[in-house]
Amino acid sequence: MSDKVKIGIIGVGTIGSVHANNYAKVANAEVVALCDILPDRLAEKAKTHNVAKTYADYNALLADPEIDAVSVCVPNDMHAPIAIAALNAGKHVMLEKPMTLSAELGKQILAARDAAGKQLQMGMVWRQNPKARLVKEVIENGRLGNIYQIRVKLIRRRGIPGLGGWFTTKAKSGGGGLIDIAVHFLDLVMYLADKWEPTKVSAKTYSKFGNPINDYHYVSMWAGPPKADGVFDVDDYAAGFVRFGTETTLSFEVAWACNAEDESYVEILGDKGGIKMDVEGDPILSTEYDNRIADIVLKYDNKNENFAEELRMFCDAVQGKGEVPATGEQGVVAMRLLDAIYKSSELNCEVDV
Ligand SMILES: NC(=O)c1ccc[n+]([C@@H]2O[C@H](COP(=O)([O-])OP(=O)(O)OC[C@H]3O[C@@H](n4cnc5c(N)ncnc54)[C@H](O)[C@@H]3O)[C@@H](O)[C@H]2O)c1
Repeated sequence: MSDKVKIGIIGVGTIGSVHANNYAKVANAEVVALCDILPDRLAEKAKTHNVAKTYADYNALLADPEIDAVSVCVPNDMHAPIAIAALNAGKHVMLEKPMTLSAELGKQILAARDAAGKQLQMGMVWRQNPKARLVKEVIENGRLGNIYQIRVKLIRRRGIPGLGGWFTTKAKSGGGGLIDIAVHFLDLVMYLADKWEPTKVSAKTYSKFGNPINDYHYVSMWAGPPKADGVFDVDDYAAGFVRFGTETTLSFEVAWACNAEDESYVEILGDKGGIKMDVEGDPILSTEYDNRIADIVLKYDNKNENFAEELRMFCDAVQGKGEVPATGEQGVVAMRLLDAIYKSSELNCEVDV
């Protein structure tokens, strides 16, 4: 292998471009090929990112011997087939979130990784956020003591992405706000608290705002505008309670849309301290100091190079210089949790994860 990992990006929509822009900041990476089923977009992105080779079919890209590794940046339903084909073709895989549509498919990706002996990294980019790294450090330094409760809140007042398109079509996305955005913070808190064994879930998902499409009122839309003749058959709100054995619990609330103000944070409570990481502002450690109740505001350097850092770690792992920061095994745990949340909602009772 040369001193640079030769990358192919499969899917050059919004996040495929983010990968291209951020691989450009990684010293040991070179994007050598792009792939997309939309020819005009592919040509435009090849020009923007100055990439010579383009492929309309991902199988053709995977047959290119120059390519060491791929970023899989396609809609969720194509994650498993493309990741498995890439591993079978001997490529390392950087797989965007969510891992796939179910834990069963996640296990198939893992089996392909093990058979290929290649690297597989989950696109859990929040772990590389400087604020999250600081919180991880505080927890590892023992400032929280024994962790017993975790809170996740991810509320968008009106934030359904690409209404009517693949994001809101269950067959393509696997679900709504839960699988799209909650997956980031559910992974993040399991990572921060180092709790990877969810055992039981009681949850409910709702779908209140996307139908009919023309009645959805909003200020701005990621991946818009809405497609009036499109599909909305996914969740736009979910709430639930997760047990990790008998000593730790997690409550979550996530909304792509609801009648409440925007609010996004994770909070982890221990017997020595509690830490709140709001998407806005500095993390706050609630604790005691000299027998007094104290709040410590944690200052940090917000360089916010999350994606570049994530991709740098991937390339280092490919070159044997480090470990992938988010593993396929952890991806499967997140998928098991999501499967259980949807199942609990459907059955209206607590279920095993
Ligand atoms: N990490 C993050 O914060 C983050 C943010 C946004 C999206 N994502 C994830 O990235 C993935 C893509 O999301 P997006 O917002 O970029 O979507 P997008 O619709 O903007 O882009 C997807 C691209 O994939 C292409 N595509 C579809 N099927 C293909 C195939 N078979 N072969 C090649 N190309 C194909 C589409 O033509 C499109 O250009 C999703 O899984 C999403 O969840 C992650």
